[in-house]
Amino acid sequence: MNSDKVQAVNQSPADVLSDGMFRRLFKEGLVLSPQLNEVYELALAYYESKILNEDELVDNGAYFIKVGDRLTRHYLMCTGEPLRLPKYSSSRLKSFFEKNQFRTGYATHGLFPYRGKFHPQMIKALINIMGLKPGDTILDPMMGSGTVPIEASLMGVKSIGVDASPFCRFMTQAKYNALMLHQKPLDLALKNTREIFEFYSRAAGSPVAGSKSRNNSWKKDFSGINEPTASFKSDGMDCLVELIGTNVPDVIDFLLLAYLDSAGYAERSKRRTSFDQFQAILERYIFVVKKIQYVLKDSESILAKADIMQADARSLGIENSSIDGILFSPPYSFAIDYLANDSFHLNVMGANIDALKETMVGLRGKSIQEKYVLYIEDMEKILAECARVLKPEKFCTMIIGTNDNQLSKALDVPKEEVTGLHKIMIDLARPHHLVPVRVLTRQISGIANTMRNEYIIILQKG
Ligand SMILES: C[S@@+](CC[C@H](N)C(=O)[O-])C[C@H]1O[C@@H](n2cnc3c(N)ncnc32)[C@H](O)[C@@H]1O
Repeated sequence: MNSDKVQAVNQSPADVLSDGMFRRLFKEGLVLSPQLNEVYELALAYYESKILNEDELVDNGAYFIKVGDRLTRHYLMCTGEPLRLPKYSSSRLKSFFEKNQFRTGYATHGLFPYRGKFHPQMIKALINIMGLKPGDTILDPMMGSGTVPIEASLMGVKSIGVDASPFCRFMTQAKYNALMLHQKPLDLALKNTREIFEFYSRAAGSPVAGSKSRNNSWKKDFSGINEPTASFKSDGMDCLVELIGTNVPDVIDFLLLAYLDSAGYAERSKRRTSFDQFQAILERYIFVVKKIQYVLKDSESILAKADIMQADARSLGIENSSIDGILFSPPYSFAIDYLANDSFHLNVMGANIDALKETMVGLRGKSIQEKYVLYIEDMEKILAECARVLKPEKFCTMIIGTNDNQLSKALDVPKEEVTGLHKIMIDLARPHHLVPVRVLTRQISGIANTMRNEYIIILQKG
């Protein structure tokens, strides 16, 4: 038994209680984020406090609002009015955003509801505890809605964000560019919402209200102007440029993202007209941009560059041993069909959904058994790529959950005997010299979730 343990046993309840736990865990002067209420969050805060110095905690710490008498940048980014929601939003949604102000409700992270999106606060902490510093480069090979590249930029860390879906590329680029968007055209957009809505409805098409379509037969070829594949020509473009007083692609793509977001809502629900949805969403988007730009200007932040690309994570065109850290979350076996979810947006962009299916992890194969075999094959290739591009001694963090019901069917074994995906991933990573140094568990709440836990697996390249 070491001396710490002996001491702990010998202490009186009055001494232990009056000292408190936090004083023992954290240096004096550190004030924790108010909404921190889960064990994994406390663990991340603890690691941050041990790995970062005080200046770094002020600039980039995720789980602290104050260091001595200095307010942290995370606190400044999150405070003020929480994400502005449409007046008619349900009280459940409003309370979700209030409760998660420090987890998700800052910068441009809240734009567009993407399934499986990370909590950016947790990403910030993981970037810190993997030892990344401003100027280093982080990779997310399956970036989805771009939480890693956007958070990294805010921290001064360069990034490469990759996703197989052209819609994810578009969405992430638009959210990243929004951190630096000119505000004057946005004010004009707010004055001309009806005309702008009509322009995008004509150019991009309208969803059928209340009938989430899985129809792949129509195509629009209206990708954002910033897209590498863009063949952007649309009647009425001059009129749009006049309405917003600029032809800057970043602004036009930002408005398109707001339109696609509202189209997603309109597809799911008949309760509001598409225009009402668009108006409310655009107001919120513009509020978000103004808020984050105000904070960035005030704290003289320099955003780091993010390279955002559409590519296949199974064969990354990235140099060997060139990356300082990797952070990603793959689809959890075949739980979510990302292409079906985004079919409206992908069709607007003219994407070939059937061809994309062949590159998407979790979607290849017909029977559930075949899907499982191909999923494991694909994940092995991705882990091999991660190991190849990562510098020696650096860290690769994967976040993954297991759906035991689904795996029990795929493998034809009782639920209790299913080996969790997190264990399978650790075994797949080992031959590529990615060795686990820490695994954190995070509970998933919500009645609708069939998964109970997510695992944050931190691997080090040996
Ligand atoms: C769980 S989501 C990631 C969500 C992301 N962490 C976020 O914060 O939004 C997994 C992503 O993997 C992408 N994906 C699937 N197969 C891929 C492949 N072969 N290469 C790159 N990305 C792929 C999907 O399009 C999806 O966006």
